[in-house]
Amino acid sequence: MKLARRIDNLPPYLFAEIDKKVVEKRAQGVDVISLGIGDPVEPTPQNIIDKLCEQANNPANHRYPSYSGLPAFRQAIAKWYKERFGVDLDPVTEVLPLIGSKEGLAHIDLAVLDPGDTTLIADPGYPNYNTGAILAGVNPVHVPLLEENDFLPDLEGIDVKTARDAKMFLLNYPNNPTSAIATDGFFNDLIAWAGNNQVIIGHDNPYSEITFDGYVAPSFLQYPGAKDVGVEFHSLSKTYNMTGWRIGWVCGNAQVVEALGRVKTHIDSGIFNAIQYAGIEALEGPQDIIQDMREIYTRRRNTVMEALDKIGLKARKPKATIYVWARVPEGYSSASFATHVLDTAGVIVSPGNAYGPSGEGFIRICLSVKDDRLAEALERIKDSL
Ligand SMILES: Cc1ncc(COP(=O)(O)O)c(C=O)c1O
Repeated sequence: MKLARRIDNLPPYLFAEIDKKVVEKRAQGVDVISLGIGDPVEPTPQNIIDKLCEQANNPANHRYPSYSGLPAFRQAIAKWYKERFGVDLDPVTEVLPLIGSKEGLAHIDLAVLDPGDTTLIADPGYPNYNTGAILAGVNPVHVPLLEENDFLPDLEGIDVKTARDAKMFLLNYPNNPTSAIATDGFFNDLIAWAGNNQVIIGHDNPYSEITFDGYVAPSFLQYPGAKDVGVEFHSLSKTYNMTGWRIGWVCGNAQVVEALGRVKTHIDSGIFNAIQYAGIEALEGPQDIIQDMREIYTRRRNTVMEALDKIGLKARKPKATIYVWARVPEGYSSASFATHVLDTAGVIVSPGNAYGPSGEGFIRICLSVKDDRLAEALERIKDSL
């Protein structure tokens, strides 16, 4: 049997591989603690679940949803952007619901690039930026996010030819996996650079609400000129503990939103309406969950930082996201340390190089695990060294 060449180029999906390892180890009787995938353990708030149940009982919602999403959901997204970020969005032309932001990120290359084109991707970055490009026959060029630059891309360091050839740049702040935040002026510089080089910006912002110590994360779209050069992906997954529901959106530049929407009409048939009604409830109902989760993650972040200090692993204290990005000890690579920790401590951490070559030398520790298990995992890592 002959399969597509692009399948040969498609690396196994990081978390699918990690899942396999967890299953293997558990089958051997190991009590595995996973600090791998960013998947909140706390439940979705009850008001959102109740709305889903109510709407699932309405037969009108059992039929195909609209390709462009429920008008009421698109309006709720536009209202949330206005209230939260001061950004005006036309809910008809500038907002498009997605089956989780991952889905849109995987399809955006098909909408704005042709085979053989060049796209820029943050390195390290969310793995889909790379694989979306591969699936579309596009050439992904890594833009390193280095610690000495506060894990921000050095825009001036991107050579003239690469900048001129590139048609899109995917990146995200607050950042997964480094947990870095955009510094003042970064988005202004990015927008100016994108305009000069005719590069579409795809900013991915699922962690805007998971912030600590009083930090308030911006939207890329709140900066002048952003809508002329790009779009922002967002999601209910992390803000409302809804990873399993598969609901997010893209918003911003109407041409890009329309193109992605057109691609999607040929691939999927939208999000179950009952889930979209639950999404409206998430955005418009009580917001206590956000502060509650910030407190939980702040506590866990502090636990991890204290433990890493004792273990002797270096990491910057995150102001946002559910991740701590730590340097591996001397003598280890990202992969060898992740393997060591799994084999000797039964703990899963993500190897930094799985997010791109510039992630080498780091591991990512996720805070989406109950406090007692997190403390135990850290204790086990300490003992393993
Ligand atoms: C940076 C980033 N973008 C996108 C996603 C995908 O989120 P969703 O659940 O909306 O597909 C994630 C999930 O971890 C992420 O970390």
